[in-house]
Amino acid sequence: MASGSGTNFEALVNACDNGQLKARVVQLVVNNPGCGAQSRAERLGIPWNLLDHRSHASREALDQALVNCLRSRSVDLVVMAGWMRIVTPVLIQAFEGRLLNIHPSLLPSFKGIDAVGQALAAGVTLAGCTVHLVCEAVDAGEILMQAAVPVMADDDHASLSARIQAQEHRLLPAAVALLAQRLHQSQG
Ligand code: GAR
Repeated sequence: MASGSGTNFEALVNACDNGQLKARVVQLVVNNPGCGAQSRAERLGIPWNLLDHRSHASREALDQALVNCLRSRSVDLVVMAGWMRIVTPVLIQAFEGRLLNIHPSLLPSFKGIDAVGQALAAGVTLAGCTVHLVCEAVDAGEILMQAAVPVMADDDHASLSARIQAQEHRLLPAAVALLAQRLHQSQG
């Protein structure tokens, strides 16, 4: 699931292609027509669907469409890779314990929108990213993995975002592998 540029989506596809992650990306869903993630899926040959929130009556209706799409592809695990919509129990319960989000802060600090801007405004010297399970409270589910980066005195939004994103691209495939392993073990 992606809303924007899709660099995390591409990092997951690459990790599968190079064998680092023993998984397959079977479906991308985007909510913004023509977003970067969609172009990446076309280039990488990954099936994609547009589920535009503007043409759904409610958050729940959008999430039900997502569930239908993902179930039709028999997915085992769902990744919110830059999905800029609040999700509801409709999606969360359908993929309980199998729905991941990546967030550009060291949670529980700086939940919600513009986490990088929040970190800069707060003057912290350490920032980072978190991969966590999704629960109903925003950015509050169980933390699976985190990576920290320094904040430099001359950082601006772009430079700090780039440093965090480089870690995201490493962290997200590793966290997917961790959760997959955990699910595999719990299934005996
Ligand atoms: C990533 O930095 C991700 O952490 C953030 O959106 C960016 C998507 O980049 N997600 C959130 O802020 C969710 N609250 P990408 O489209 O290049 O992968």
